[in-house]
Amino acid sequence: MMRTQRPGVLRAEHIGTRSTICGWVAHRRDHGGVAFLDVRDATGLLQVVVDPAKAGLDAVKQVRNEWVLRIEGEIKARPDGTVNDAMPTGQVELVADSFEVLSESEPPPFPLDDRVDVDEILRLRHRYLDLRRAPMQRNLRNRALVNKAMRAAMDDQDFVEVETPMLIASTPEGSRDFVVPSRLHPGSFYALPQSPQLFKQLLMVGGFDRYYQIARCLRDEDLRADRQFEFMQLDIEMTFASQFDVQTAIGNAVRAVVDVLRPGDAPEEIPRMTWRDAMNNYGTDKPDLRFEMRLLDLSAVFATTEFRAFAGAACVKGVRVAGQGEASRNVVDGLVERAKQLGAAGLVWMRVRDVDGVATLDSPVVKFLTAEEQSGIIDALSATVGDLVLIAAGEWKTTVGVLGQLRLELGRPAVTEGGLKFLWVVDFPLFDGLADDGTPIPASHPFTMPNPDDLEILEIDPLAVRAEAYDLVLNGWELGSGSVRIHRRDIQARIFALLGISPEQQQQRFGFLLDAFRFGPPPHAGFAIGIDRFVAIMSGEENIREVIAFPKTQSGADPMTNAPSAIEEVQLRELGLNIRKAPVKS
Ligand code: AMO
Repeated sequence: MMRTQRPGVLRAEHIGTRSTICGWVAHRRDHGGVAFLDVRDATGLLQVVVDPAKAGLDAVKQVRNEWVLRIEGEIKARPDGTVNDAMPTGQVELVADSFEVLSESEPPPFPLDDRVDVDEILRLRHRYLDLRRAPMQRNLRNRALVNKAMRAAMDDQDFVEVETPMLIASTPEGSRDFVVPSRLHPGSFYALPQSPQLFKQLLMVGGFDRYYQIARCLRDEDLRADRQFEFMQLDIEMTFASQFDVQTAIGNAVRAVVDVLRPGDAPEEIPRMTWRDAMNNYGTDKPDLRFEMRLLDLSAVFATTEFRAFAGAACVKGVRVAGQGEASRNVVDGLVERAKQLGAAGLVWMRVRDVDGVATLDSPVVKFLTAEEQSGIIDALSATVGDLVLIAAGEWKTTVGVLGQLRLELGRPAVTEGGLKFLWVVDFPLFDGLADDGTPIPASHPFTMPNPDDLEILEIDPLAVRAEAYDLVLNGWELGSGSVRIHRRDIQARIFALLGISPEQQQQRFGFLLDAFRFGPPPHAGFAIGIDRFVAIMSGEENIREVIAFPKTQSGADPMTNAPSAIEEVQLRELGLNIRKAPVKS
């Protein structure tokens, strides 16, 4: 047997037993001629004491960090005064009577100490070493637990796991495709799936009733803290189901995950909010409900104002920043700058000060406001002495968007704080706006069902049409998204007509789906949760790279394998490809 025990599991109850352990040397200290090695494996660290004066143990003098050892000895209580309560194994130590070097290591390029901040490129270049560190071990184990819990939850609800292909024709998810050249069909390309969207709909036509998949998705989009080229979804689709059925099924999966990773934190019921309320109150379609700081309406206060910045504005909103009334001029000027950067025409700030026992606004613009307007602001925002008040006016979406972003920047707790606040955001608009030629821009794929109550205004007032589309939000992150799909030909035809997608284009882009829909498509609806984001939040990480074993950098590269890289001339020839421009090495 290679080992009889794993180092991280040894406790006081093991005192007196003989053990053989294997692992890496995490630290070494020499004290009174004796070597103290912290030996690490996936279970944790154990202190090993090796006395080079004992027969056969002299070679410990050569042992360095990250060498791999097999050590045999007796588990003993640590001597008085050397117990380490911060370590799970801190009561005990393994006193070696023999050891074997299983493999040697060069000095690692960075310290594998959890407390040291290491440059990310260096970490990714040697990810196999980075993975030995406790946070990465924990995060990837969390990820495995999340997948397992979600699978079990879907299995329990009679969902069938089906795998869909990776080499496909383009899917209409709205991002750029990664493409793969075909050798057998030179000049033709496969697309890698942005999601299994169309295939899961075809599975519904195929009678599977309830499908799920832990699916790999690929999108060629700009990378950010919450975005990678490749990412994983818990992807589901259901027949004869309403959005509420989908939300119930997803709610069960979410609760199963939270029960495993944060027992006691699972939401009984996930609250719902309409998209319009989310935008009005929080200035975003993914409100972070761990803190309040709502945007409050001041339109009534300024209905007849003569103050130029607010007069005639479609929307005037304010937000109260509690306790920031004495922020420096630099800070408030910074907020004004930031608001302009975000697209606002300006930002009005006011300090709430105590004047003769009365909460009074203090700001360069106060002289342009009537006494009623001033007290109106204080009342509407429930502002008190010591607060800072921020007000913006203008077009609705920009105004709420700017204040919503400032709200986040001023109030958002750290990822590890404030618990887990899940929220369904429902009734998204079907269209995002109008293109220059007046054509509506679909908010998601063109198979999203309009709210039946809004069908009569579809062509008359498309921007007012609500979709049967819903997102799941967690702590201000968009965790997932889904919709009821159109299964009726008449509605689909109206949408295509509105979007100006000709029958030829329809056939070319989604012909196979439309063909399938000629043969009794059932009503169906679905959803997809972004697993990387879910694991990141559950692990208290701000960036999904921390929960992916081998992620790409912000610029889309892998410093370890050097992907993406040029390919051989023969490969190009085989694929019938010519490179127009030499690839730029990043
Ligand atoms: P959507 O495009 O909203 O919907 O994606 C669903 C969820 O996937 C996650 N996600 C990402 N995670 C990491 N990196 C990315 N680049 C990335 N892009 C998306 C997010 C997002 O909420 N087919 C539809 C779902 C449906 O309608 O059933 C879809 O893919 O958490």
